[in-house]
Amino acid sequence: MGKRNRIVTGLDIGTTKVCAVIGEVLPDDRIDIVGIGNAASKGLRKGVIINIDNTVKSIQEACKEAQHMAGTSIDLVYASIAGDHIRGFNSRGVIAVSRKNREITQKDKARAIEAAKAVAIPTDHEVIHVLPQEYLIDSHDGIKDPVGMKGVRMEVDAHIVTSATTSRENIIKCIKKAGFDVAGIILEQLASSEAVLSQDEKELGVALIDIGGGTADVAVFVEGHIWHSYVLPLGGNNITNDIAVGLKTPYMEAEKIKKRYGFAMTDMVTDEEMIKVPSRGNRKNRYVSRKILAEIIEPRVEEVYRLVKENIENAGYADLISSGVVITGGSSLMEGMTEFGEEIFGVPFRRGEPIDIGGLVDVVNNPAYSTGVGLIIYALRKDESSLDFNFTEESYLKRFSRFMRERF
Ligand SMILES: Nc1ncnc2c1ncn2[C@@H]1O[C@H](COP(=O)(O)OP(=O)(O)OP(=O)(O)O)[C@@H](O)[C@H]1O
Ligand SMILES: [Mg+2]
Repeated sequence: MGKRNRIVTGLDIGTTKVCAVIGEVLPDDRIDIVGIGNAASKGLRKGVIINIDNTVKSIQEACKEAQHMAGTSIDLVYASIAGDHIRGFNSRGVIAVSRKNREITQKDKARAIEAAKAVAIPTDHEVIHVLPQEYLIDSHDGIKDPVGMKGVRMEVDAHIVTSATTSRENIIKCIKKAGFDVAGIILEQLASSEAVLSQDEKELGVALIDIGGGTADVAVFVEGHIWHSYVLPLGGNNITNDIAVGLKTPYMEAEKIKKRYGFAMTDMVTDEEMIKVPSRGNRKNRYVSRKILAEIIEPRVEEVYRLVKENIENAGYADLISSGVVITGGSSLMEGMTEFGEEIFGVPFRRGEPIDIGGLVDVVNNPAYSTGVGLIIYALRKDESSLDFNFTEESYLKRFSRFMRERF
């Protein structure tokens, strides 16, 4: 009898929604999405958990729904992390290959990565990813995999991502309290980029911006690897707030109006179309033109785009994103987002949603699911090298026993 296919679960703990995505790994390594569960997120602010109990409830609700849909139960999840405590920077690790035959082994690779990790970071922060970009052997650069090559001195260039220790611990705490184990914690935009970017885009150079409710998460890929990451604590919630204040309407109404009529760019709307705006209290509804609405939205979108652009320029990657920018996350759904982005950045923009997956494609074909789906893809790809993972002890043991079971 054939073995049961492996099940992998992504848990996207976002500012507006907690989303569990269950994937089944087919024998040919393709992924079928077999379950999705969503719950409103009430315990986060700008990507960071501020209320444990509310977050636990949301996790339980999302996972319950996803398990029900998939007809299977889960115990282990890969979760996302975001927030402006996240820092990304590049580092080089150097080691000497002292063995007689000078042949570089997997162990040397791991040692070089450890060396790259040895940088000073604040005591209340910790490294969550070490993402190798290229290896250098005796100063020859551009080597993708050094194992088996010969050399005396090996170096690795890597992108390091750090997080506030407490933020990461709170994610683990919530998931455990909800009754699940954590297999790994993955930077939100790293997960999203796995789901929406093509290999070609990553090779040519591309910037991903995942614009959610609380944060805009940025990742820049050049020559296939991540070189820059950044979290801007602004997102769709700020736009909704602006609308609520500008149109003097309750927040929930502002959210509905935004999703239905919102436009990121004033120039693309005429002032003929009028929309109904419920007032606060029991005053009468009012009517405003869609252009007025766009005039409220545009400055906030412009702020997000300009701050991201400035950040990418300051980091030195503006000229390296030949494929342009891919936007994803729920806020990328607003009309005019790609056009306005192109105007500000002066490079091509496209909206990205999960690609190359099977199963419940109609449901996950939405930029708000990029992180949830991407967590699964990232977990599977990284499983092969499993170099940059921050497994909890318990999960590590489980992983190890699964590894033993599968091999022997
Ligand atoms: N059609 C739409 N037009 C405009 N905004 C939209 C639309 N659909 C969803 N949004 C916005 O997308 C945001 C939610 O996106 P998403 O689900 O990606 O966020 P999240 O993952 O919960 O948050 P974050 O990643 O910031 O922690 C909300 O602000 C919502 O208003
Ligand atoms: Mg998100």
